Amino acid sequence: VTVPDLAGRHVVVSAGGTREPLDPVRYLGNRSSGKQGYALAKAAAARGARVTLVEANTGIPDPAGVDVVHVGTAVQLREAVLKAAADADAVVMAAAVADFRPAVYAAGKIKKKDDGGAPTVELVRNPDILAELSADRALPGQVVVGFAAETDDVLANGRAKLRRKGCDLLVVNEVGERKTFGSEENEAVVLAADGAETPVPYGPKEALAETVWDLVLPRLRAAT
Ligand code: C5P
Repeated sequence: VTVPDLAGRHVVVSAGGTREPLDPVRYLGNRSSGKQGYALAKAAAARGARVTLVEANTGIPDPAGVDVVHVGTAVQLREAVLKAAADADAVVMAAAVADFRPAVYAAGKIKKKDDGGAPTVELVRNPDILAELSADRALPGQVVVGFAAETDDVLANGRAKLRRKGCDLLVVNEVGERKTFGSEENEAVVLAADGAETPVPYGPKEALAETVWDLVLPRLRAAT
């Protein structure tokens, strides 16, 4: 039995991976499938929340009972998340947002050079949406959650990232063979700004989604 413990709440979830266009046919992208974000959105809806899912390039059908906003790039994702966050009780940034984008977008397809050389792509930084959401909360007591995929020194890097980003919870997962990208399963530790650390054993992304909402729930401001 699912308890509607998120009833009356508006939650925002981002999912998928941004694509940063180089020209009309090419982009810089990443391996995020969006499955964890969709699991979070569906779990919150089942628990009674109004859910806005900001989706980037997943190709997954819109889940029933969830408001889905489709975006492509990091700049578009920022725009959509900040808009939806204006009245949100919690924001969960599960999307893999490109840290950099090409400095220039070529209006025509970039051609091979006759001299056999290769073009150089200059990159610029994208805005850090999670850090921005955490620093400028749209509502007092809004709960902000981030994700971090790490390959080494997972916990130490996660703790440093939690402090740097300023979010309330950071879900840290190790990128590995059967875990994280494209997989149905995940294994994680949820780090909290108050020092609590919750290990989540290897299992379906749905189970991790429930744990995230279980940890968000007591941190939501008292309902008014
Ligand atoms: O710094 P890193 O990319 O590892 O941080 C991951 C977390 O930060 C994720 O929650 C991701 O959604 C968020 N992020 C962001 N804006 C960026 C890069 C990452 O919000 N430009």
